[in-house]
Amino acid sequence: MTRAVVATEFGGHEVLSVIETPVGPLGPDEVLISVRAAATNPLDYKLYSGNMGRDPARLPMRLGFEVAGVVTEVGSGTDGVEGPAGPVRAGDEVVGYRVAGGYAADVVAPASSVIPKPSTLSFEQASGMMLTGVTAVHALTVVGVGAGVTVLIYGAAGGVGLMAVQIAVAAGARVIGTASPGGHELLREFGVEPVVYGAGLEERVRALAPGGIDVAVDTAGGDEALDTSLALVADRDRIVTLIASKRAFESGIKVIGGAPGADPGTEIRSAARLELARLAEDGKLRVVVAGAYPLAEAADAHRALATGHAHGKIVLVP
Ligand SMILES: NC(=O)c1ccc[n+]([C@@H]2O[C@H](COP(=O)([O-])OP(=O)(O)OC[C@H]3O[C@@H](n4cnc5c(N)ncnc54)[C@H](OP(=O)(O)O)[C@@H]3O)[C@@H](O)[C@H]2O)c1
Repeated sequence: MTRAVVATEFGGHEVLSVIETPVGPLGPDEVLISVRAAATNPLDYKLYSGNMGRDPARLPMRLGFEVAGVVTEVGSGTDGVEGPAGPVRAGDEVVGYRVAGGYAADVVAPASSVIPKPSTLSFEQASGMMLTGVTAVHALTVVGVGAGVTVLIYGAAGGVGLMAVQIAVAAGARVIGTASPGGHELLREFGVEPVVYGAGLEERVRALAPGGIDVAVDTAGGDEALDTSLALVADRDRIVTLIASKRAFESGIKVIGGAPGADPGTEIRSAARLELARLAEDGKLRVVVAGAYPLAEAADAHRALATGHAHGKIVLVP
């Protein structure tokens, strides 16, 4: 048996509770991970909010797409099962992404989702590196961010934003990032030129970059980001948003992610996991943990996340 967070019905954060639930049995290509930390993501609460459907067959709903922990059992053989970075064995410290039901003390994961935990990151940090990291790599890849490029990143101090700014800076880009004033110091630490969002954003960015913006990456959504990108970036192929909307599709910019009509980037995202682990191992990728909560306080963790103003990852610690 293990302990896991479930949503018992569709609704607000109060529907979350911890249950005792059986583990396994493991399939031949699966491993059991003793979870040391599970990262939360906005998608987690959107799934039980009811805004993405209310199919009763999905209840009780396990949550959590990413974890860091220690492998306690492997499905077949004693030499481990093959993962993307080689054999996965009992005792290995690992990151699991994607997993199903990561908000738990133990989770079963396919070995194809398991890679070694970078030694430079704590379990809490490592749990939050993948969903945001692969999204950031995908976004930066489709718009072509590299040396000499000036990129504007909206929501730069959020989960995806902080990954995107680090990868862009490491690639040699000049990064301007939008955030509320409380996030500016953090962004400067990462080599970002911060700018507040809200009325007058286009003028503030023009003042910082009179030579123009080559690329825009929107992790915030909404009309302000779209209007500002369309005004500042000449080539619509070099504007990307994570937030699907009718206007985003109609304007001809790139829309990525799981929404209907968006580019899921499956191969780029899958390959990005090892690239992110390497960057972290080389000390070029830091994960900011904005808060850590016990499993039993998952609802409070989601309340903090759902403010939409977290600066870093909010994680659960079983
Ligand atoms: N399409 C995909 O594949 C994909 C993947 C991952 C996430 N997402 C989505 O992308 C969004 C961001 O995810 P996340 O994990 O980065 O969330 P997060 O950690 O909650 O960060 C959100 C950030 O947005 C900023 N923000 C809030 N309102 C803003 C505004 N009006 N203008 C500019 N920035 C604003 C906040 O900055 P301040 O605190 O400074 O205000 C906050 O740091 C979520 O909606 C998520 O569901 C999509």
